[in-house]
Amino acid sequence: MEKVFKIAVLKGDGIGPEVVDAALEVLNTISQIYGVKFEYREGLIGGIAIDETGDPLPDETLELCLNSDAVLLGAVGGPTWDNLPQDKKPERGLLKIRKALNLYANLRPVKVFDALIDSSPLKPEVVRGTDLLVVRELVSGIYYGEPRGIYEENGKRCGKNTMKYCEDEIERVTRKAFEIARKRRKKVTSVDKANVLDVSALWREVVNRVAKDYPDVELEHLYVDNAAMQLIRRPSTFDVIVTGNIFGDILSDEAGVLPGSLGMLPSASIGDKYALYEPVHGSAPDIAGQAIANPIATILSAGMMLKYSFNMDEASALIEKAIKETLNQGYRTADIYSEGTIKVDTKGMTQKIVENIKRLANK
Ligand code: IPM
Ligand code: MG
Repeated sequence: MEKVFKIAVLKGDGIGPEVVDAALEVLNTISQIYGVKFEYREGLIGGIAIDETGDPLPDETLELCLNSDAVLLGAVGGPTWDNLPQDKKPERGLLKIRKALNLYANLRPVKVFDALIDSSPLKPEVVRGTDLLVVRELVSGIYYGEPRGIYEENGKRCGKNTMKYCEDEIERVTRKAFEIARKRRKKVTSVDKANVLDVSALWREVVNRVAKDYPDVELEHLYVDNAAMQLIRRPSTFDVIVTGNIFGDILSDEAGVLPGSLGMLPSASIGDKYALYEPVHGSAPDIAGQAIANPIATILSAGMMLKYSFNMDEASALIEKAIKETLNQGYRTADIYSEGTIKVDTKGMTQKIVENIKRLANK
């Protein structure tokens, strides 16, 4: 019998629907080649969900995700909703779904394609060969810690958040990082601020303890300020970087400039039971509706879904290979365009990738 995978599709706002449609086209191609069936069911999230239901993550959407094999998400947010109170913003929908599905490990691979090396702001000799993976803790830390809020103290208004990690939360994400490193270049860099923060001192202690179970993997510790610097000085020396929620948020955007465009970066957010896949870039309201967005980040995210949720490693590698080939053939969306290359729109890029997938599959 043909295998059926149920995918919850949350297109969201801005360019979200455009790039998700591109990824679905690629999944349909994979479905034909490998004889598996993907069943797509759509749900609302973000600004569009606020407009239609008053809630950035309606119960119906959450229910849909809980009953799916994987979630594919576009992007949330935009200027229309920026002035809403903190707990009513589209971004809340994202934080809520991460927590509800317990997606504690956020995987953000950063690979510099040789064909795009000149789009990088760094010198080619510094950036060449960069192939790293940020493993960011995603459901705890300062994003969720209590107490929090804006309040009055001695006649002044103050704002407060709490950075808190418990041992088990540090351990599970660290294990994930080591397991993944084992299948890569066997190096883990743990990033913290253990010279100042108590929460980081505990982080480091737990990482050192977990590392004992992985003697074949090299472990390095960096303070987050130094890590920010080393990422620019020697990006190609990193393999897996494991860190907490806010450091991972910041470092993954920094790492995102290495390949020249955020439009290239996919992500997977995984827990023990559920998984969600989305591009690292946001809703890009400035170019929404123009059909010029780079679909590669979302297509690569669908590729990560094949690998991590459906054990289809070969299909996932095929997608990556086809993207590499498409870039080598000179096709570029506006964000990565340079003189002498061929400018295509979202559909054009998707079409070329689909063609290359079909061609490479027949080899
Ligand atoms: C990200 C984003 C989100 C985050 C926002 C949109 C809530 O920046 O996924 O990195 O801070 O986690
Ligand atoms: Mg971010």
